[in-house]
Amino acid sequence: MAAIPPPTPQVAVHPAVQPLSYLLGTWRGKGEGSFPTISPFKYSEELQFSHSPNKAVIAYSSKTWKLSSGEPMHSESGYWRPKLDGTIEAVIAQSTGLVEVQKGEYDAEQRRVKLKSALVGNASKVKEITRVFEMVNGELAYAVEMATDLTSLQPHLKGTLKKI
Ligand code: HEM
Repeated sequence: MAAIPPPTPQVAVHPAVQPLSYLLGTWRGKGEGSFPTISPFKYSEELQFSHSPNKAVIAYSSKTWKLSSGEPMHSESGYWRPKLDGTIEAVIAQSTGLVEVQKGEYDAEQRRVKLKSALVGNASKVKEITRVFEMVNGELAYAVEMATDLTSLQPHLKGTLKKI
């Protein structure tokens, strides 16, 4: 029987991932949530972006905790699939059961990624989700907006994270 090969020690970043390689690693920070129908809230967050050598995909995960008590809040994970032409798609599964297919584009020079939902599934209220990630003064800042059956596209989350 043929031996199972060990994982290769290469760390080659796929050319499609290269323009977004500044994201790879672990980020920690804080965020604030709001929406016209809820009370505002604050949270801490850890984000991870990782890749496998020579694969044109970035694995993404986020965990959040209530800032005041450390109690776990929302979490989500998925895959970001950047293309060499500057477009990107992402699939994200949320701890609430909601799933998203996001499509958009990135600007490697500005270090900005803009995503808009092409599909939101298994959601009771959410109709649309947009996400923008950008580097601002060496920190990763993001904003999430959503539309529900009762409310048009409005800010829900805003976070700023530092790479650790
Ligand atoms: C409320 C969706 C991320 C914390 C909500 C609501 C929806 C929603 C639909 C109810 C709004 C309403 O009743 O009108 C989403 C989506 C997210 C997301 C689509 C990601 C794209 C998060 C994250 C956190 C969070 C990361 C925590 C850090 C909350 C809280 C409420 C809320 C605390 C209020 C709950 C309540 O008052 O019952 N969210 N959420 N959400 N969300 Fe999110």
